[in-house]
Parts: sequence; C-alpha cells; structure tokens
Amino acid sequence: MEVDLFSTVRLGCIEMSNRVVMAPLTRNRVAEGGVPQQMNVTYYEQRASAGLIVTEATPISPMAHGYPGLPGIYTDEQVAGWRKVTDAVHAKGGKIVIQLWHVGRISHPSLLPNQVLPVAPSAIRPAGHAVTVEGLQEYVVPRALAVTELPAIVKDYVHAAQCAMRAGFDGVEIHAANGYLLDQFLRDGSNVRTDAYGGSVENRARLLLEVTQAVVDAIGAEKTGVRLSPVNPFNDMKDSHPQAIFNFVATQLNGFNLAYLHVVEGGIHGGGEAAPFDFAAFRKLYHGAYMANLAYDKARGNAAIASGHADCVAYGVPFIANPDLVARLKADAPLNEADSTTFYGGNAHGYTDYPFLSF
Ligand code: PHB
Repeated sequence: MEVDLFSTVRLGCIEMSNRVVMAPLTRNRVAEGGVPQQMNVTYYEQRASAGLIVTEATPISPMAHGYPGLPGIYTDEQVAGWRKVTDAVHAKGGKIVIQLWHVGRISHPSLLPNQVLPVAPSAIRPAGHAVTVEGLQEYVVPRALAVTELPAIVKDYVHAAQCAMRAGFDGVEIHAANGYLLDQFLRDGSNVRTDAYGGSVENRARLLLEVTQAVVDAIGAEKTGVRLSPVNPFNDMKDSHPQAIFNFVATQLNGFNLAYLHVVEGGIHGGGEAAPFDFAAFRKLYHGAYMANLAYDKARGNAAIASGHADCVAYGVPFIANPDLVARLKADAPLNEADSTTFYGGNAHGYTDYPFLSF
C-alpha cells in the first residue's frame, strides 16, 4: 500500500498513528507564571488526533521569554500544568513533544527579570518591534553573551528537557529556527563573534550542537528533535551563505540519531523574501526522519511523503481552525477558516471554539 499522510510512522521512540503533525503555534494564552491552565489543556486535547503535537514554543528559563502570555518549562508549577496537557492528549491516544525555546535578542527588558537587556551572540539590534505588555516597543541592542555564560544556557536546555520528561512529554524539540537564540548563533547576520562560537560554520553551529548533545545525553536521542529554518528572514535574519551553514548542521546532526529533524522550508510571517536554497540537496544530506513544514496542503503533503522527501508534514494555521484536521484531510472535507485576529492572546474564542466536523 502506498505510504501517505494517514500511514503510521515511528520517529525515534514515538509511535504515530498518522503523519499529520500539529506545528508549534504561539497563542499567548497562558496565565501568569507560565503555568498551563484548563483552557490550554482543552486546546491540546481537542487536537490529539494529530499524529504528533509539537507544543507552542516554550521558554526554558526566565531569560528565554520574549512575548506576553507564554508558558514555561522550568518550574515545578509549570511541570504540573503541562502534566494535565500530556495526560489529556495521551488519554485520547495522541503524542506530544514540547518545543524548547530561548528567544535571545527577540525580547525586551520589560519581559525579563529585573528589566535586564536581552542576550544574543552579538550586540546587534534586530529591526522591528517587541510585543510587550505595554504594546509594541522597538527592539533594543542586546547584550552579547560572554563565552563563560554559554554552559549555563546549555544547562537550562537540559533542565527544561528533564522538566519535560517529568511532565509526561513523549519528547522535546530544540527550537533552532525562526531567528531565536540558537538560530542567531547559526547565521552570520546576527553572529559576528570572534571566539569559538562565531566565524566559521563549525563555530556558529557549536552552541546548537552542544545543546543537542547535552539534551540527548539527558533524555535520549530517540526523544529529541531539532527545528531549523535555513532561509526564513523573519526576525531580521540573514546569512551570507545559508547552504554552507545549514548543510554543515544537517551533516553534523546525522551523528546524533535524533527522533527527527523539522525544517521550515521558506519564510514565515511575511518576514520578507527567503534567499534561494536547495532544500532537496540539504534533505539528501540528512539521513534521519524529516518533518517538512511550510504551507503544505493535503496533495503536497502526500507527494512529499510518497517521494521520500518527508516522513511527516507539520501543519500550522490549519490546526488553529480545525481541531480535527486529520479527519477533515482524510475525508476531503471543507476546512474551517482561521481568524487571524484571535491568533495571539485573548480567551477561548478563536482558541477552543472552532467546530469539529459532524458526520
Ligand atoms: C511568533 O510568536 O510569532 C513566533 C514564535 C515562534 C516562532 C515563530 C514565530 O518560531
């Protein structure tokens, strides 16, 4: 039988009932303290028929925050809140991993402990505005991390991964995409360091590879995924030679035997024109399971799987509006349209009140 979106698959130790993944989606609806509440439990439980849910990007420490209303995965209270989410998803037969996030320079003092400056590989201010409690405010010049501070950041990823295991997640996804901290180290538009973490592709990839090694050592490669976005210009990102750095990263990640590599195959959020990039060549270099993402529909998702390009496909916006996306895709049923005015923040409206298909 032909393999398609509705075929089973195993990523690392995660047995999935289909290959339709719910992509990580920032929704800014978590209460003070970053502790998931009943409304958040309901939202994920409603979407448990996805082959795998990747949670919204979740800060690994107080310094990793960059928007209001985010969850966290570093306190006991957050672990207890997430445990309710994972229990609800598992009770429905679903699988769920948490995306581990440090925003780096994409933050603002008002969102950070003691109003300190955001941290980054280099003191380069991104163009654009931070979303703060007081509204949009210009990004500030971040503070360049000292090389002596990096081991503590690696430890924060490990602590968060261990918290994720205590919260009952099936695994973690290390967020190294979309212009946040690890991606800021990878790309030379945001990393002009002259030490062992800047300059050559080996040096720029060093922090991601150290984080990956440490998380793998802590919880196992079969429970660890990584997300990359080689040419996404969102968050004022650029690189002088993306194929060189990302081909190198793909080759190095082969050595870990990860659960999967998740790739944003272009630009998001209207962040500008994505640079040319040979995704087919990049894909060939990576030998493990590959999760494709970016505006796939059913036909393109099935084609990507049938051709061997992808092992599974992550859908974002369609999952906001269609909790039963898998059933709808399978039945070729019409999709609910997503209301972009309720994507970020607010209440249950536009979050848990999208209708299911009625047969
Ligand atoms: C966002 O909040 O817009 C956002 C968060 C994480 C991403 C991408 C976008 O990876």
